[in-house]
Amino acid sequence: MGEKNLRIRKCLFPAAGYGTRFLPATKATPKEMLPVLTKPLIQYGVEEALEAGLNTMAIITGRGKRAIEDHFDISYELEQQIKGTSKEPLLDEIRSLIDQCTFSYTRQVEMKGLGHAILTGETLIGNEPFAVVLADDLCTNGNDGVLKQMIDVYEKYQCSVVAIEEVPMDQTYKYGVIAGKLVDNTENIYRVTNMVEKPDPKDAPTNMAIIGRYILTPDIFDILRETKPGKNGEIQVTDAILKQAKNGKVIAYKFDGQRFDCGSIDGFVEATNYFYNRVEA
Ligand code: UTP
Repeated sequence: MGEKNLRIRKCLFPAAGYGTRFLPATKATPKEMLPVLTKPLIQYGVEEALEAGLNTMAIITGRGKRAIEDHFDISYELEQQIKGTSKEPLLDEIRSLIDQCTFSYTRQVEMKGLGHAILTGETLIGNEPFAVVLADDLCTNGNDGVLKQMIDVYEKYQCSVVAIEEVPMDQTYKYGVIAGKLVDNTENIYRVTNMVEKPDPKDAPTNMAIIGRYILTPDIFDILRETKPGKNGEIQVTDAILKQAKNGKVIAYKFDGQRFDCGSIDGFVEATNYFYNRVEA
């Protein structure tokens, strides 16, 4: 099967990390199940993927992450209990997701980094382009969601796409940072020329940071297989995407919308306030 003109159907959710910044909450509960208001982080991600037209969700889990599988399944006992009561509609949204999507899971046995988690997903994705959502980056937009915007970019350029945002220069050490050239007289689409994982500000090529949304072409799996552990001894997806970039095959897209880093306490609280105020408004 060629790579060209394939519609993206699948979304990979690497969700095997330990979430140490949220200990002790994440000791027995997956970070992806922490709720912003009443919805777990991963449900926001699945909704964003579905809105972008993807209905096959491939989730990389690990030990202690079973709650994710249970969340995207029917709970007969609970549903029986609240059937016909005023609480029944509280399950409408999640029921509708379950009806519209298929979910598949595989476990990452050793947590060797995001690149390794994505490679673990090959068995669920196969030989087709796919999206990746890191559910702890919670994105929101009044119009098209970030993933939907990225699919449009992919359809035009037919290569890997990373979502970027400008961050304060002193924060570059938290992100993969890109350098690139604006293409086609756009204001927000770059052809990536370089990428550095978590650089010190003095080594960062720019302040354009990759956030947790990617579209990847399936050649990434062969590249990841050959990728040696990088920063922090982990297999870094940034190193693999850089290989594609060196062949001119990566676009960075400055998305329209807002992102909350719900992998950090500050970002999580900000997201909670934001969604709470939106509900109130
Ligand atoms: P993070 O860097 O946020 O790590 O991973 P973490 O373990 O989730 O959280 P902290 O830093 O200990 O608090 C980024 C994303 O990559 C996934 C995580 O689940 C998260 O979505 N990941 C990371 C894996 O699936 N496997 C890994 O081996 C590493």
